[in-house]
Amino acid sequence: MSLPMIEIAAGEQVPLLGQGTWHMGERPNRREEEADALRFGMDLGLTLIDTAEMYADGGAEEVVGQALSGQRDRAFVVSKVYPFNADRNGVITACERSLRRLDTDFIDLYLLHWPGSVPVAETIDAFRDLKVDGKIRHFGVSNFDTTELDEWCAKPGGGETVINQILYNPSRREAEWQLLEACRGHGVMPMAYSPLEQGRLHNVPVLRSVAEKHGVLPLQVALAWVVRNQNVIAIPKAASRGHVQANVEALDIRLDETDLAAIDSALPPPHRPSPLPML
Ligand SMILES: NC(=O)c1ccc[n+]([C@@H]2O[C@H](COP(=O)([O-])OP(=O)(O)OC[C@H]3O[C@@H](n4cnc5c(N)ncnc54)[C@H](OP(=O)(O)O)[C@@H]3O)[C@@H](O)[C@H]2O)c1
Repeated sequence: MSLPMIEIAAGEQVPLLGQGTWHMGERPNRREEEADALRFGMDLGLTLIDTAEMYADGGAEEVVGQALSGQRDRAFVVSKVYPFNADRNGVITACERSLRRLDTDFIDLYLLHWPGSVPVAETIDAFRDLKVDGKIRHFGVSNFDTTELDEWCAKPGGGETVINQILYNPSRREAEWQLLEACRGHGVMPMAYSPLEQGRLHNVPVLRSVAEKHGVLPLQVALAWVVRNQNVIAIPKAASRGHVQANVEALDIRLDETDLAAIDSALPPPHRPSPLPML
């Protein structure tokens, strides 16, 4: 199955929809089912898999490693370093721990999980060293608001940044104030996390009524909305085949002007400076 692809760097295309892994790996008896959901998603084209050293203290990375067994070359793996590990040596050793848990030689995209207190130039230098050593292929940031992104991108090497992973869904539109535009200005692709607001969008009346009109589910409408312009990547987390399938099918939903206007009216975009929230 072929999904819409999106270019994040010269010659580097990833699917518009990927798979999240937060809370995977927390319960040993669920790991096989979680890895199976990830493998099923890959078979449907969801080959971008997002994880982090934070999730289940590395347990989610182990689940990803399990899912990738024998098919590493098919996946685009994203992982993240804690801000308190983001000094020059800390990044290198955190990355090596992640590589061991993922059971791989390289991470496709390595992100700073959120802004911290380590000088950003130091983190960028470490990311560049990892690139030169072939341990990561690209780097980026997460939870960076406009000012933070501007500062990061202005540093030597900051221009190599390919992704800013941010909270974005119909009920979390703060990034529309300036940040999405700032990302484009820096050549940084936005990647929307918690696109389903962790499932809470299921009960939002406007999403329910749009869903009813299209004969689909409210969470599918939320996902279709996030990727509506095919210029934001979304990484819903789904731990069962049914949820994965529903998420892929959301890509077929075409929201029309009436749907978008109804969503804008009930869940309006920001009209004043709005700091980027994080979950
Ligand atoms: N950079 C950051 O700071 C940051 C922060 C948060 C998240 N993330 C990343 O983004 C990923 C996604 O965000 P998230 O996990 O917070 O929330 P999410 O993807 O918005 O929602 C996940 C929840 O929705 C449920 N779900 C998924 N598909 C469904 C469907 N078709 N129908 C009904 N329920 C469905 C899942 O249930 P099941 O698990 O039972 O399938 C899970 O409870 C994370 O897993 C993580 O990789 C990054």
